[in-house]
Amino acid sequence: MSTPELRIEPMTPALGAEVHGVDLTRALGDDDVQVLHDALMNHLVLFFRDQPLDLDQLSAFGRRFGSPHTHPSVPDLEGYPGVMAIHTDANSKVYSGRRWHSDVSCDAEPPMGSILHLHEVPDSGGDTLFANMFAAYETLSAPMRGFLANMYAEHVSEPNFRGYYGVQDEDLRDGAYPVAEHPVVRTHPVTGRKALFVNEIFTSRIVGLAPAESRALLDLLFVHIRGPRFHCRFRWRSNSVAFWDNRCAQHLALWDYFPQTRSGHRFTIVGDKPV
Ligand code: SIN
Repeated sequence: MSTPELRIEPMTPALGAEVHGVDLTRALGDDDVQVLHDALMNHLVLFFRDQPLDLDQLSAFGRRFGSPHTHPSVPDLEGYPGVMAIHTDANSKVYSGRRWHSDVSCDAEPPMGSILHLHEVPDSGGDTLFANMFAAYETLSAPMRGFLANMYAEHVSEPNFRGYYGVQDEDLRDGAYPVAEHPVVRTHPVTGRKALFVNEIFTSRIVGLAPAESRALLDLLFVHIRGPRFHCRFRWRSNSVAFWDNRCAQHLALWDYFPQTRSGHRFTIVGDKPV
């Protein structure tokens, strides 16, 4: 039986839900994991408050939902597969998540989900926005959905990752920057719903279209995805957690708090080949 206090409170009709009555510092029972998994399938991103997780606890929570995914250009934190630091302060020149994206879609098997825990947050700002890619797909016109039905897009990582995290090429996970081709519309492996799967950080072109056609179509889709009706916006507090499904949600992090510090860790979960 799941924890009786566990309660799911939807955030916007589009996506997102806050989870109450669960302590992620402790090992979760199978029933609670099932409730959280179902809630993630329904709401695409879950938020938790007041979870003072250390790296062992973050990893243990993440592993209940899948194996750790190692970032192509950010080595795992030593001893913690799948964990990377997310940190910005007065000395930072760049930050993660500056445009709408799903994590590491440049991988042949992009991550299923990501779990971000922040332990230090600015006084205000540093919110993360999330967008529902089922809704983005479903609100395209029928002719446009038909046009996109069998199309593939290229997802590249080098323009985004080279030099970005201060990692040298010889330390790359695969010895090279990954490139992948994925369907423009993917079918969610659990729910069977169709989601738009192109994003501003990684998607470079639509395969088979002329460059100008590809650019115009991607720009149209990116503008569509930015529509606020698909979104929710999360205001972080210290020890908040966000757990999102990269297969059907995109996110965008704001860096509007310079020179303050925003700091935490992300556990990323392996996924499968988009179909
Ligand atoms: C990311 O994983 O893209 C970073 C998200 C954030 O810092 O809010």
